[in-house]
Amino acid sequence: AEGLFTYDPGFVATASCESGITYIDGAAGMLLHRGYPIDQLAENSDYVELCYLLMFGELPSDEEYETFSGTIARHTMVHEQIVNFYKGFRRDAHPMAVLCGVVGGLAAFYHDNLDITQADQRHVSAIRLIAKMPTLAAMCHKYNIGQPFMYPRNDLNYSENFLHMMFGNPCENYEVNPVIAKAMDRIFMLHADHEQNASTSTVRMAGSTGANPFACISAGIAALWGPAHGGANEAVLAMLDEIGDDSEENIQRFIDKAKDKDDPFKLMGFGHRVYRNFDPRANVMKETCDEVLGELGLGNDPQLQIAKRLEQIALEDEYFIERKLYPNVDFYSGIILKAIGIPTNMFTVIFAMARTVGWISHWNEMITNGYRISRPRQLYTGHDKRDYPQK
Ligand code: SDX
Repeated sequence: AEGLFTYDPGFVATASCESGITYIDGAAGMLLHRGYPIDQLAENSDYVELCYLLMFGELPSDEEYETFSGTIARHTMVHEQIVNFYKGFRRDAHPMAVLCGVVGGLAAFYHDNLDITQADQRHVSAIRLIAKMPTLAAMCHKYNIGQPFMYPRNDLNYSENFLHMMFGNPCENYEVNPVIAKAMDRIFMLHADHEQNASTSTVRMAGSTGANPFACISAGIAALWGPAHGGANEAVLAMLDEIGDDSEENIQRFIDKAKDKDDPFKLMGFGHRVYRNFDPRANVMKETCDEVLGELGLGNDPQLQIAKRLEQIALEDEYFIERKLYPNVDFYSGIILKAIGIPTNMFTVIFAMARTVGWISHWNEMITNGYRISRPRQLYTGHDKRDYPQK
């Protein structure tokens, strides 16, 4: 395509695939989902509508939206047998380990009668995954803390339902705070898709073998877990705890540590392989952070103060300016999730839950457009040919 999407031949040679779902202009700090800028979507849309857009390429009509969100609501419950999957894990297992195992296990329930060459069956798989991820994710948390699983409720919207299953219990009614539910929904939107990141590429690679979508999504969850990728939001909170106070001298000490090549410490939540300008999601996340902490009376939260000072000092530092390192989507998300009461070991689970629609949209696009098995090549750096020594 000409204009916005003209690529130089060098870039084309390095591209791993063609896709029409999400476009990132790293230099301009621009993120488009099917052509719509993420900040406009975050302002005017919701996660379910964004799921429809990512899956089908256009915004739904009111009627299509009602049908789609109703179908998702009716697929939120999971097979009762799946409860037994959780019981095989230790109670203190990391929720990402549990989620990875349980989602892969869904293949045992939905794989046999699934023909991925049929578009309608691919869409049913996608709906099942988008609908069930909040239930499975909340079950990871409930299992971890020894509380009973909460069933989803069809009278709640997507983010309200998740909060209900996370924080509700059978002994009392749980009232969802609409400000928190809106913030949760926006966090889901900001994590929904991001072009060919490591975990999405993993899903496409697994899908290129013809593997069933549940196994492919489980592979994506595994790839996302790493601290350089989806695990960064959990690592940001640990970093803010390590920094400890927002004095300029203390923060500068940690910024200098991050610049020291001999020191493995990096500023978690900073930098990005593609963005050489601000990450547009980080700006929306920062506004959401102020909204949520304001709503909860936590505007003076110590970690928020450290994060804001750290961002301010780092953005004035030559090293970060030269390398165009800015806060990314993970820098503020952890502070919001912690303020909502979500334990840090669930942060990447929420990222995985939100990213499922991106993963499955890329998987569906690849299968729809025809695909060959992915087979990356290498630059061989080993021994020349040599004979086995005769004994
Ligand atoms: C996500 O791909 C995606 O789209 C991912 C994601 C998505 O939505 O799927 O956006 C989600 O993964 C966001 C990133 C979350 N990770 C972190 O916040 C971890 C901290 N960030 C760094 O590990 C790093 O910035 C990466 C992993 C994000 C990017 O790694 P790159 O591409 O190898 O970094 P780079 O090439 O841009 O680095 C350029 C320079 C290097 O120094 P020099 O060799 O030039 O001297 O900047 C340095 C890096 O060492 N650098 C940092 C730094 N990030 C890069 N120095 C200190 N602190 C940092 N955070």
